[in-house]
Amino acid sequence: MSEIALEVRNLTKIYSNTPALKGISFTVKKGELFSLLGPNGAGKTTTLRIITSLTKASGGTVLVFGKSLNEDEKIVKRRIGFVPQHINLDMELTVRENLLIHGLLYGMPLREIKKRTEELLEIAELKERGNSKVKELSGGLKRRLLIIRALMHSPALLLLDEPTVGLDPHIRRKIWGLIKQIQNSGTTILLTTHYMDEAELLSDRVAFIISGEIIAQDSPLNFIKKLGEYALDIFTDTGISTHYFKNKEDAEKALQTHTTYSNHVTLRKVTLEDIFVKLTERHL
Ligand SMILES: Nc1ncnc2c1ncn2[C@@H]1O[C@H](COP(=O)(O)OP(=O)(O)O)[C@@H](O)[C@H]1O
Ligand SMILES: [Mg+2]
Repeated sequence: MSEIALEVRNLTKIYSNTPALKGISFTVKKGELFSLLGPNGAGKTTTLRIITSLTKASGGTVLVFGKSLNEDEKIVKRRIGFVPQHINLDMELTVRENLLIHGLLYGMPLREIKKRTEELLEIAELKERGNSKVKELSGGLKRRLLIIRALMHSPALLLLDEPTVGLDPHIRRKIWGLIKQIQNSGTTILLTTHYMDEAELLSDRVAFIISGEIIAQDSPLNFIKKLGEYALDIFTDTGISTHYFKNKEDAEKALQTHTTYSNHVTLRKVTLEDIFVKLTERHL
C-alpha cells in the first residue's frame, strides 16, 4: 500500500474571466517524483502556487498528506517546500544567512538551524561558499542554494518550479543530480518543466499539461512502450515523417528498405517528445 503525498482534484483557476486551470486532477505518491510537463502558459506555476496557498483556487480540492489547507494551514505549509522559478534570494546576505532567515521564519530552534545548514551545504557542495555573499555566486550555485533553502524546515513534499530554465548543460546535470539525491533521501517531489528530456530523465510519472488541462499522464516508460520504442525519421522535400515500431528488428527492416533510395533516414529510440507530438497532433 503506497501512501498518497498529494492529491489534486478538479482544480480550477480563473484570472479575471480567463481560465488558467480547467479542472486538473492528479495524485503524487509518497517518495515519487511527479512532473507537470507543458509549454509556457500551461498553468504549471498557477498549480504550484495554489498548492502552497500563495494563490487561491477558483474550485477543486488539494490534499497534502490527506489534509487540506483550509483544515490546517500552518501544519500543511510546514510539510511543503517551494522552490520558485525566479531566484528570490537575499543577494546582499551570505549563503548561511539566507538559510538562517528561512529557518527563523519557520520557527526552527537555532541549534537545529545550524545543524541543518551544514548538512544542506554539504549536499549542495556549497560548504566552501557558505560565507560568501549570494551576489558573488554563479548562476548554478545560486540555483542550488535556492533549492536547499526550501529544504531547511525538512518538508516532506518539495515543489520545484522549472528548476533548470536557462542553465548551461553542465549546471543542469548538477541540478538533476541534486534533485535525484533529494528524492532518494525520502522527499516527495512535484516538479514543473517545459523540457521533455528533463521530465523523461527525472520523473517516475509525468502529466502533460496544455492550456490548463492535463491531456495524459503515465510513467515515461509506459508512454514510450505504448507508442513503440523505436522511431524511424524519414526526411522528405515536404518535411519529416516518423514511423514507430514496437521492436528493433521491424525498425531495422524498415530502415533497410528506405536507405535503398534515400540517405535521409534515421533510426533512433523514442523519447517523450514523440509522445508530446503525437498527443498534440490533433489539437493543431
Ligand atoms: N496573476 C495573473 N493574472 C492574470 N493571469 C495570469 C496570472 N498568472 C498567470 N496568468 C495566466 O494564466 C495562465 C497560466 O499561467 P502560468 O500558471 O504562469 O503558466 P506556466 O507556469 O505553465 O507558464 C497564462 O495564460 C497566464 O498568462
Ligand atoms: Mg511557470
